[in-house]
Parts: sequence; C-alpha cells; structure tokens
Amino acid sequence: MGQPRAEFPQDDQGLSLRAFGALEPPPPRNPAGFSSPLRQGALRGGVAITYSSYLHVGELLQLQKPLSDGPEHDEMLFIVIHQVYELWFKQILHEANYLHHALETKQTPAAQRTLKRILTIMKTVVAQIDVLETMTPLQFNAFRDRLDTASGFQSEQFRRLEWALGHRGAGRVGHLPKAVQAEFEALSQKPSLWDAFLRYLVASGYAVPTAQLERRFAEPVTASEEVQAILLNVYRSDPATSQTAELLLDLDEGLQEWRYRHVKMVERTIGMKMGTGGSAGAEYLRSTLFRAVFPDLWAVRSKL
Ligand code: HEM
Repeated sequence: MGQPRAEFPQDDQGLSLRAFGALEPPPPRNPAGFSSPLRQGALRGGVAITYSSYLHVGELLQLQKPLSDGPEHDEMLFIVIHQVYELWFKQILHEANYLHHALETKQTPAAQRTLKRILTIMKTVVAQIDVLETMTPLQFNAFRDRLDTASGFQSEQFRRLEWALGHRGAGRVGHLPKAVQAEFEALSQKPSLWDAFLRYLVASGYAVPTAQLERRFAEPVTASEEVQAILLNVYRSDPATSQTAELLLDLDEGLQEWRYRHVKMVERTIGMKMGTGGSAGAEYLRSTLFRAVFPDLWAVRSKL
C-alpha cells in the first residue's frame, strides 16, 4: 500500500476524512479531474473515452430483465449471478485457448501463469455459489415457473469449456440449435487441452506413443498405462514439467469442486424435484460428480 494521497487527509486512525464529509477534496486541476491534461490518445473520434463508454456500462446494466410479476426481489440475484458466470466462462475460454497454444509450443512459464489465472477464476466462481445460497427455496419458488425450460444445462459456454478440456460427448449438446451442434462436432475433431499436454510432453523429450497422440479426439480421454509410465518419470525427475501437470490436476479438481458445490446448492434449493431443463435434477447432477477430465494424472498417484 502506498502513502495516502495528499488531497484526502487521514485522521489519526488512518480513516479518510473525506469519507465522512469532514473535508472536501481541492478542486480538480482540469475539468476531467486529472492533474495532467487529457492525453490525445484517450480521444476517439474527438470524444474522450470514459469508464462507461469503454465498458459499455449502459448496455450492460440494461441486460437484467426479470420476468416475474412485481418483479420478485430474488430474481435479480438469479439473473446477475448467471450473467456473471457467463462472463467468467468467456474469460476462462479465452485463457484456455491461450493455454492450449502455450502447451503445444512448450512455453512453460506462459502455460503455468495462464493455468494459475484460470484456477484463480475457478475459485472465484465456486465461491459465488455462497451468494446464491442466501436464496431460500421459497424465494426461488416465487419465480421458478417463469424460467420455463431454461436451465444451466443449456449453457453453451460451459459445454465449450468441457470440450476444450477434453470432456466431450454428443449427448450433452443434442438440445442445442443444429448450427451450434455442428460447431461442437467440428470442435470434437480437434485436439483438447489434454492432447496439447501430450504434445508438450513430446516437446519436453518424452516418447508419448503415437496411438495416444493420434487418438480419436471426439472420444473422452481414457487412462493409459504408457502415459502413466511417462508421468511417473516426470514426477520423479522433472520439476518444471511436473509443476505443469500439477496445475492441470488442480484444474480438473476445480471443475469437480464446482460440480459438487452446484449439486449441493441444487439439493438445498429444489430438493429432489426435476430440473427445469428436464433432467432428474440433483440425481442427474450427482452422476456427473468425480468424473476425472485427466484420468492419468489421478491414476499415477497410486504408483508414486
Ligand atoms: C438456484 C440455483 C440453481 C438451480 C436450482 C440449478 C439447478 C440445476 C439443475 C436441476 C440442473 C440439471 C439440468 C436440468 O434438468 O435443469 C442444472 C444444471 C446445470 N446448471 Fe444449474 N442451477 C442453479 C444455478 C446455476 C448457476 C448459478 C449456474 C452457473 C452458470 C448453473 C449452471 C449449470 C450447468 C452448467 C448445468 C449443467 C451441468 C452438467 O450437465 O454437467 N446453475 N442446474
């Protein structure tokens, strides 16, 4: 933390006096409040870029449209939290794309930095469930019927995240529009993050079997004895590569952690009722728990 700014005097307990209205700051040195003139670079088409215009705050704040009569107080939270999730999913996908490239080109520091960023976001999105859990079952029931068939099950970006990692299967995208299903089909033919990691191992000097490198990308990743033998070697004698493997394991665990927190939230909010998306609800969600995305990283632990 730096020194308090001169124009916001502090009392002897370090509290800003301005916050209590005790002292007004001196008038700004130019109309925009900056101590130096606005830089030309901040102008676009002769108009200064502001916080609101840069971030499109006006449009963003128009996007929360409750459907319930009243509307019900808690519907705003429900909408905001889902929108925030979608923004984080967007950022995770953006980072995952970068990570994929960093692994394929064996840029270890970039890969590890990116993994750490994704993991920090994952922690944030898991923690957000606490906020939603302040909503009681009755509060949710007050607007649940307005959701009709809408469900997180239909989140395209969540599926893209699963696809990026390598957790793929047509069954989970069959309800999406045909054009989007075609996109997922095309994505299925491309290497996943796990496949990028196998290439990273090759670039690090490990002899990953061709059968693994040329596996059918549309199929879920399955455990391989040969890859585990390589990983044993990595863990025993290659700290940099094993650190990357550990961060990938954290990512797998982070996703499982989200699934667990989500299903507990669902159980406490709707019990064993069916989901709005048409599934058996909590029962379906429980069937998705503890499914490893990178099975070899888990399996190798028993052999270390
Ligand atoms: C009161 C809050 C919530 C309830 C009651 C709830 C309920 C459910 C249920 C019952 C399902 C199973 C599919 C279905 O039949 O609808 C589901 C799936 C899902 N929900 Fe939620 N959910 C809630 C909040 C959230 C939030 C905040 C997110 C964040 C995006 C989310 C994301 C998902 C995803 C991605 C799935 C699909 C999981 C999978 O297929 O593996 N849900 N949810």
